[in-house]
Amino acid sequence: QPELSWQGITLSITAGPTREAIDPVRYISNQSSGKMGFALAAIAAQLGADVTLIAGPVPLATPAGVKRVDVISAEQMHQAALKAAQNSAIFIGCAAVADYRMAEIAVEKLKKTSDDALTLKLVKNPDIIASVAALSQQRPFTVGFAAETHNLIDYAKGKLTNKKLDMICANDVSDPAQGFNTEHNAVTMIWPNGELALPAQAKTELAKLILQQILQQYQMVEKA
Ligand code: PMT
Repeated sequence: QPELSWQGITLSITAGPTREAIDPVRYISNQSSGKMGFALAAIAAQLGADVTLIAGPVPLATPAGVKRVDVISAEQMHQAALKAAQNSAIFIGCAAVADYRMAEIAVEKLKKTSDDALTLKLVKNPDIIASVAALSQQRPFTVGFAAETHNLIDYAKGKLTNKKLDMICANDVSDPAQGFNTEHNAVTMIWPNGELALPAQAKTELAKLILQQILQQYQMVEKA
């Protein structure tokens, strides 16, 4: 099926966590290992796509044939993602971006005080995938993930609509055997007029099915 080939398609993918500094030695982050996003990048490159992988701080090897841009914070990921997205036909946001960062990063290491409580003031980070989907020029076909511990499908549909995405992969992360920092995952892919449940399997196998569905939907939208 030559029409279902990734050959020559430019694709950018975000993967891994972001890390938001508190002071020179401390940070806020999450459990994302980058494995799901790296699996998508590896398989897409094998299928012939021209892949840019925007990676948060993870110790994974760069998949063969993939261009990698390393970032630490959400603000850095935002800049790198916008740049890559404008040169991409398709954008996949698989990163677990920190929703908040420190209002001010302390220049010196914070000292322990006699107080029993410490309050950190956080401010909202930019929504990277929403700003990609909002591009007025060179907007790529935009695919998000929704990591949820409850109300999976409802919340994912809300993110599909609110962030103006073309597709979303609803990812149940309440089961410790899948999702964050594991070898396996399961998602339900949702788009405006369809839904497809993909059962738990190795992330590289799941990546093949996710990419197949994205390409099919992308080509449908392109033709319309
Ligand atoms: O990295 P692994 O250990 O392999 O785990 C994979 C995964 C569980 C991290 C991955 O499959 C996944 O679900 N990624 C999305 C994680 C997430 O934080 O989702 P969210 O529901 O908070 O965000 C929704 C969407 O908005 C995502 O596409 C996210 O990349 C994007 N987002 C969120 C916040 C923000 N400030 N900017 C964004 O672009």
